[in-house]
Amino acid sequence: MSDTPSSMPCDLLLTGGFIVDGTGSPAYAACLGIRDDRIVHVGDGRGIEARRVIDLDGLAIAPGFIDVHTHDDRAVLIDPAMPAKVSQGITTVVVGNCGASLAPFRAEDTDLVAPLGILGEAGVFRFHRFRDYVAAVEEARPAVNVVALVGHTTLRASVMDFCHRPATEAEIEAMSARLDEALRDGASGMSTGLFYAGARQAPTEEVIALAQVVARHGGLYATHMRDEASGVVDSVEETLTIGRAANVPVVISHHKINGAENWGLSKTTLARISQAMDEQEVMLDLYPYAAASTVLLPERCDGSMRVRLSWSEPHPDQAGRDIADIARDWGCSGEEAARRLLPGGAIYFMMDEEDIKRILAFPHTMIGSDGLPHDRHPHPRLWGSFPRVLGHYAREEKVLTTEEAVRRMTGLAAANFGLPERGLIREGYFADITVFDPATVKDRASYDEPQQPAAGIHLVMVNGQIAWQDTSVGPARAGRFLRRSPAAQAQG
Ligand code: ZN
Ligand code: CU
Repeated sequence: MSDTPSSMPCDLLLTGGFIVDGTGSPAYAACLGIRDDRIVHVGDGRGIEARRVIDLDGLAIAPGFIDVHTHDDRAVLIDPAMPAKVSQGITTVVVGNCGASLAPFRAEDTDLVAPLGILGEAGVFRFHRFRDYVAAVEEARPAVNVVALVGHTTLRASVMDFCHRPATEAEIEAMSARLDEALRDGASGMSTGLFYAGARQAPTEEVIALAQVVARHGGLYATHMRDEASGVVDSVEETLTIGRAANVPVVISHHKINGAENWGLSKTTLARISQAMDEQEVMLDLYPYAAASTVLLPERCDGSMRVRLSWSEPHPDQAGRDIADIARDWGCSGEEAARRLLPGGAIYFMMDEEDIKRILAFPHTMIGSDGLPHDRHPHPRLWGSFPRVLGHYAREEKVLTTEEAVRRMTGLAAANFGLPERGLIREGYFADITVFDPATVKDRASYDEPQQPAAGIHLVMVNGQIAWQDTSVGPARAGRFLRRSPAAQAQG
């Protein structure tokens, strides 16, 4: 019961709903009261006065979802209502993943190394200092809270003339100084994209040196690993080595097994992750689809898998088509067609459903959409990831319970990323709230029609303000820039 004095009415009282509190424990019927930016009552609602009451008629009240893996660095600035995210119940996004953050980097020439192009063309990299980016987020007032990582490839591009080699001692020094400043100015850690051209030549030692800077600030290290195909087991090992050497928590981003000949290796990787957790801090996330998406890589267009174009600068009209069909029209090989379409992005059908279910069933796996908001024909994960876990994987496939799915999206993520007083339904916590219907929640974004809001997400509140109601974005944009507070981990 709340000790809310009845002389101080709530701004909003939600009645008739079930609380799915983010801890994984069973849902229970209760009312929830909000005043200003906080949850002030969780209980039977008796004696609680409210300016406004909404009867939820059996819907679930969950903490707002935390999208732990995004590329929304620029989206929060140019599309601050963030419909792709709030429409699926997301109230916090972690930006700057896969080695690519918008800051700190002012691009001087027009060529960007991969994967920086997922954020836009060179001109969008205009934040010389990380604090300028933080100020821009605060000025844009996005509808969602923002947690930001510093991208290793961004650091490389900002200090190296040529990224296709290891950094020199002097360059590591320069990157360390920029990273140190960014962490002081509010970054929560660093990400790498060791798979991509912009960092592939970076040896493990280079990453360790930078991860040590992250450790000094209590940050975390997230990685799109060097290899998610035949070398995935070695890549997990490299990630764990970096974590131990730098004494830093590691996040294995969008854990997946690429390539039919490697399917099933998730048994090995999860066993290793589970064992490592006894000795070091290891986290991981997943997006719930069997196709990946990133920049267009011609070497993947040799016909060994289905590849669908998501954007192309020289041929924007081809977005949404299969590379094989474009190649047939053009009378050339798939690889040649892909080269002509560069720069571009693509969707790669290369994972196995069994690996996805196994990784999702693993109790430590968080959810990250990895959505690419600037693609013309994006992967449906941008609009559908969280409802897909709740609808397809929890309700239909029963890979996990609704309560457990919500825990992975909320309490676990808040604890891992150090976001105090978020991620759970508790009196005194911030009112980041998602009201959904467990019986109907469902992703509607598909590979053919990827930009569709989900079904079954009824009300989304960020810091006590409505960000999404029924079918449209709310008037208020109340997101905040959040800094990691490692001490918050104890609560999870
Ligand atoms: Zn990635
Ligand atoms: Cu990513």
